[in-house]
Amino acid sequence: MRISQGTVIVTGATRGIGRATVEAILACGGKVVAIARDEEALRALEASEPERIRAVAVDLEDVARVPEAAQRAIDAFGSIDGLVNCAGIARYEPVGAIGLDSIEAQVRVNLVAPLLLSQAVAEHLRERGGAIVNVSSTLSERVAQSTMVYAATKAALNTLTKGLALELASSGVRVNAVLPGGVETDMLRTPRLRPGESLSGAELEQRVESQLAALAALHPLGRLGKPEEVAAVIINVLDQTWQTGSLVTIDGGLSLA
Ligand SMILES: NC(=O)c1ccc[n+]([C@@H]2O[C@H](COP(=O)([O-])OP(=O)(O)OC[C@H]3O[C@@H](n4cnc5c(N)ncnc54)[C@H](OP(=O)(O)O)[C@@H]3O)[C@@H](O)[C@H]2O)c1
Repeated sequence: MRISQGTVIVTGATRGIGRATVEAILACGGKVVAIARDEEALRALEASEPERIRAVAVDLEDVARVPEAAQRAIDAFGSIDGLVNCAGIARYEPVGAIGLDSIEAQVRVNLVAPLLLSQAVAEHLRERGGAIVNVSSTLSERVAQSTMVYAATKAALNTLTKGLALELASSGVRVNAVLPGGVETDMLRTPRLRPGESLSGAELEQRVESQLAALAALHPLGRLGKPEEVAAVIINVLDQTWQTGSLVTIDGGLSLA
């Protein structure tokens, strides 16, 4: 059986790439345990496929709650076959404006939570095999302005992916990372303002649009990716039976530029 036809925990399931991954798993015939913070969005997701989606609401920044949330997710359908660590946050801050709160939040959500979830899920999968996919970023290998902390968390996530892959291989658990370039989601619509700068209304909207256009132009294929294009690669990596410890790039050629 393909992992995508089994039961998969997906974090960041309410929006963007995580949401597209939920849809892709459902299309393959699988079931999803959806993790995010927004309880209303999670309820709506569950109501859309009551037999095949269960939701677990948790703030992954609150890392002390993650092991218990992981157990609830594993128990939701009785057992699971895979985990997609997709939830992530990015803060755009130049050197000099990087605060401790921001560093801690990005480390907790992008690195500590995926590790704790993977550890809990690995214990369950050890007996039956399965797969974990960590959603990293091309920024883990290619830094850009004002995103160094985010990039560092994703570089560490790549290392964690390889370490987990090595340790879990003998248990039949495969662990890989997918590295997207710029993808059209809420994450990229966060306005990148200079410290002290404040915009609103049409000016703010214009800034976001020009930010998206500038990012799109960096990609040799001439556009940003779509969440479903990344989800298709996540499904492929979940299902590959002889792939582990790999960093799989899907970036419209960004890494070539
Ligand atoms: N978009 C890109 O260009 C891009 C490029 C490379 C890599 N990525 C990576 O791809 C992944 C998905 O990104 P995206 O663009 O789809 O992001 P997004 O549209 O901003 O969605 C983020 C998702 O994560 C959840 N989330 C955020 N903070 C959370 C927290 N503290 N606890 C629990 N859930 C939380 C959100 O749900 P709630 O708000 O309901 O909690 C939402 O479902 C991330 O790991 C990101 O780093 C994105």
